[in-house]
Amino acid sequence: MADELTPETPEEEQPQKKHKQRKNGLYPGVSDELAENMRTGWADTELHGLEPIAQAAHTAARRAALSARFPGDRLVVPAGRLKTRSNDTEYPFRASTEYAYLTGDQSENGVLVLEPSGGTGHTATIYLLPRSDRENGEFWLSGQGELWVGRRHSLAEAEQLLGIPASDVRKLADELAEAEGPVRGVRGHDPVIEAALTDKVTKERDEELRVYLSEARAVKDEFEIGELQKAVDSTVRGFEDVVKVLDKAEATSERYIEGTFFLRARVEGNDVGYGSICAAGPHACTLHWVRNDGDVRSGDLLLLDAGVETHSLYTADVTRTLPINGTYTDIQRKIYDAVYESQEAGIAAVKPGAKFRDFHDASQHVLAEKLVEWGLLEGPVERVLELGLQRRWTLHGTGHMLGMDVHDCAAARTEAYVDGTLEPGVCLTVEPGLYFQADDLTVPEEYRGIGVRIEDDILVTEDGNRNLSDGLPRASADVEAWMARLKG
Ligand code: GLY
Ligand code: MN
Ligand code: MN
Repeated sequence: MADELTPETPEEEQPQKKHKQRKNGLYPGVSDELAENMRTGWADTELHGLEPIAQAAHTAARRAALSARFPGDRLVVPAGRLKTRSNDTEYPFRASTEYAYLTGDQSENGVLVLEPSGGTGHTATIYLLPRSDRENGEFWLSGQGELWVGRRHSLAEAEQLLGIPASDVRKLADELAEAEGPVRGVRGHDPVIEAALTDKVTKERDEELRVYLSEARAVKDEFEIGELQKAVDSTVRGFEDVVKVLDKAEATSERYIEGTFFLRARVEGNDVGYGSICAAGPHACTLHWVRNDGDVRSGDLLLLDAGVETHSLYTADVTRTLPINGTYTDIQRKIYDAVYESQEAGIAAVKPGAKFRDFHDASQHVLAEKLVEWGLLEGPVERVLELGLQRRWTLHGTGHMLGMDVHDCAAARTEAYVDGTLEPGVCLTVEPGLYFQADDLTVPEEYRGIGVRIEDDILVTEDGNRNLSDGLPRASADVEAWMARLKG
């Protein structure tokens, strides 16, 4: 990795001094002649007549709803900043969900501000880093100069693309510090903006904004549903990729599976929407197994829980539990089929007007029945459910909202989410599981070390639901036939 030139100019005179500048370069300073040379000879690359991004009309409607909810308040929604990984390297940037949802933009350091415009309305402005200045050398001497990080859109280009007036973000902190009137901000993404707002916001009022932006995302619009389907379709292809390389994973480790899925995510989407869980054998019993450094053995199961995130930041969240050699053993099939039956019951309970809890209850009921039938729990089933005894092996809730965050709408109030009612446009996962830990002495030995989860992404429709991830088989015989076909 190259390092930037170290400018000779004193720090206070350096361009973009608020932006990161790396000072440990080994290169000599910049002569006046070189500085002058670098100023000129560059073509004008300004883009004109740009079409708005596909979701521009939707983001405008979202901002209008936000504006109507908080009349008279200045609303500040940052994208966030780069986070240091080590020394002068950073984690890949991912814009805050709130910012991307309201703007369609994903620029680091971006901030959306809705300023009260008199009456009940607001004027929206998006604050962004402009193109790098060539006059003062910023473009090649600053760590955030375009020569280092790539071309940004000019403010005029951003306005055309996003349909929002754009302004220079480097002036925003000072402007906010001087702003009059009530302010609410989304916290946790941009410490510089938060510092400028310290005296103007309260935790309670900011929390109301966060809760609103979480609940507003529950019902997906047409654009969002299309993106979720894209995320799922790429995920289906990623699962197929994994099945095709299971022999290579056997020769190496779970990392081969993680890397294979990641390749699909990066080629077709933005990233994975969460750390892929590539859990072979007993690792399937660790709910968030993301170390992915274990052996992949014929005869064991592979629990693969992974999702592609699209370029617009919508993610899938899909799990399949696959026999690594292509055929379930009797005990694996017995447990798998029970989870499948539970998932079928759960999916059938997803429809408009149903309570959010209904699919969980329906799934858990089936699992409790199976555990009693197998003699692992003493009946009756209703008593088991009342005391929650099945949870030793079912471990987690049966699903959650899905969208730009894998656990979407997480700040929603209980009455709007867990105690709420399903309506068309809500997207959720149905993901029952059974997990028998390798050291669980309360079950017969043959169960130990087996973990099964089946997870699908379900959209509530006008008349029931649609399984967005039905491109992947679920029934055990179908999984085996699909694997046989892919493995050739
Ligand atoms: N992948 C995390 C979950 O299924 O909720
Ligand atoms: Mn999930
Ligand atoms: Mn999952």
